[in-house]
Amino acid sequence: MIEIRTPRLILRRWHDDDLVPMADINADPRVMEWIRDGSVRDLEATADDIERWEEEWDEEGFGLFAVELLASGELIGFVGLSVPEFLPEVLPAVEIGWRLGQQFWGQGYASEAAHATLEFALQDRGLDRVISITRPGNEASQNVMRKLGMEPERETTHPVYGHALTVYAIDLTEFAA
Ligand SMILES: CC(C)(COP(=O)(O)OP(=O)(O)OC[C@H]1O[C@@H](n2cnc3c(N)ncnc32)[C@H](O)[C@@H]1OP(=O)(O)O)[C@@H](O)C(=O)NCCC(=O)NCCS
Repeated sequence: MIEIRTPRLILRRWHDDDLVPMADINADPRVMEWIRDGSVRDLEATADDIERWEEEWDEEGFGLFAVELLASGELIGFVGLSVPEFLPEVLPAVEIGWRLGQQFWGQGYASEAAHATLEFALQDRGLDRVISITRPGNEASQNVMRKLGMEPERETTHPVYGHALTVYAIDLTEFAA
C-alpha cells in the first residue's frame, strides 16, 4: 500500500468514495480554467479519469495521488506523477501535476503535497528528473513550480489545442528534500 503522510495531508491511491468530491472539483470552471481547453468534466468523465489514474499506478508504479486532509478526511484534489503522453516532444519524461478544489487554495496544501511527491519520486522511484507543464497565464501553478525549485526549460504549443505551454524541470539529484 502506498500512503504518504505530511504534517497536514495524506497522499494515497484512489477509493470509490473519491468520485463525487473529485467530480465536484472537475465541475468548477475556475479550477479547469487553464487545463486543456478549459472545459469542465462531469461525473462520468471523472470516473474515467480515476480509472486511468489507477491504471497508471499499476503500470508505472507511480501516479496521481488522491490528497486528503489529515484532520477531516476530506478529499481536496490530486497531486502526483504522470507520463505526459499529450506532449510527445518531451518524452520520455515524468510530470508532476496538481489540481485542488478552490476552497483549498491559498493554504500551502499544493506545495506540501508536491514536496512529498518529489521526495517519493526520488527516494522511492529513483527518478532523477521531473518536469511540469503549464499554460503561461497559470500563475498559481508556476508559483508552486518555482517554490519547488523547478526552472522554466522550454516554450512550446499544445499539439491539440494550439495554445502556448511552458515546461519547467527539476534535477532531483539537486532537490533539497
Ligand atoms: C495550482 C494550484 C494547485 C495551486 O494551489 P495553491 O493553493 O495556490 O498553492 P500553494 O499550496 O503553494 O499555496 C499558495 C499559498 O498558500 C499560502 N499559505 C497559507 N498557509 C500556508 C502554509 N501553511 N504553508 C505554505 N503556504 C501557505 C501562501 O500564501 C501561499 O502563497 P505564496 O507561495 O505566494 O506564499 C491551484 O491553484 C489549483 O488547483 N488550480 C487549478 C488547477 C490547475 O490549474 N492545475 C495546474 C495545471 S498546470
